[in-house]
Amino acid sequence: MAEKINDLIFKELIKRGYSLRGNTRIWNIADSKLWYLTPKQAQAYLDLENSKGYRELMFSAELKMINKYMPEISSKILHGGAVNIIDIGCGGGKKAVVPLETLHKKAKVRYCPIDISSHMITEAINEIRKLNKGEVVEFQWNISDFDNLENISSLLRDSTYRQNFFMFLGDTISNFEIHEVLYEVVEAMEEGQDYLLIGLSLANNKPNEIIKPYNLESNDKFFGLILAQLGFEKDEVEFGVRFENSRVEAFYTIKKDKTLEFSDKSVHFQKGDQILIGVSYRHKIADLEKIMKIYFEEYKFYFNEDKTRALILCKK
Ligand SMILES: C[S@@+](CC[C@H](N)C(=O)[O-])C[C@H]1O[C@@H](n2cnc3c(N)ncnc32)[C@H](O)[C@@H]1O
Repeated sequence: MAEKINDLIFKELIKRGYSLRGNTRIWNIADSKLWYLTPKQAQAYLDLENSKGYRELMFSAELKMINKYMPEISSKILHGGAVNIIDIGCGGGKKAVVPLETLHKKAKVRYCPIDISSHMITEAINEIRKLNKGEVVEFQWNISDFDNLENISSLLRDSTYRQNFFMFLGDTISNFEIHEVLYEVVEAMEEGQDYLLIGLSLANNKPNEIIKPYNLESNDKFFGLILAQLGFEKDEVEFGVRFENSRVEAFYTIKKDKTLEFSDKSVHFQKGDQILIGVSYRHKIADLEKIMKIYFEEYKFYFNEDKTRALILCKK
């Protein structure tokens, strides 16, 4: 079914234009802001999380680590009697269940989901309310690129809830230039008081393994909604995934010449052009260590068995 043209995506395409990689014209609109613009897109991500392949390799793999390490993390982080759990890019909120239950055994907890998408925030609030443990903030913090995280964290820090525990899970950090986004998060943390838990996939020398969770029909369904909102039909583009430039690149190849039009603007695509729609960086452990040293006084890495993923607990 044809989607309504989304002017934000169209504008982004015009603003960024294309660059050449060899002879191929690459239209780079890889920005996670465009992935969750509508409730339908946000729901498509939650469906992706539940789809075979992605679920085991990404979602459940991290959840397993959270289950395993949360008791240790909880004893490290708790200072006093009450803590805000600030879930940055909360998604459906399922990854917060175990942290919340574990912390709730020892402290007063308040859950605060933050996301660009209202659909996600509503889902996360409902998920956590069901537990009936601790408080859930009523306000919807819809923020883009986690720009004003600092304001939110200081608003949440009150005389009861003095400490913030930030969770930045699900490889969300991998969709950003790591320094840009870490800077925003670190600014929101109080020295010696707050903690951050990052969850991400790691680099290795097996690119075919790295792209596996992305090279699936369910990813095409999710990313395809962006192309549909530009006016492409399904049979006019082909989904592809590769590992290049230290990152997974999800892209669409244009199968035949096409001109897209919106208000008074038009963009012409040639057969063979590619639209880069998503990137997910993979860092080596040694590089991540160097990065953590820049921002944090203390940090600890927790790995899964084959060292394809890490949770990093950080204190400023
Ligand atoms: C990969 S999902 C991870 C969801 C969840 N944390 C998990 O681990 O399952 C990324 C989440 O961050 C939000 N997000 C992505 N890019 C964002 C941006 N630029 N600004 C604000 N939120 C964003 C998405 O809406 C989505 O809920």
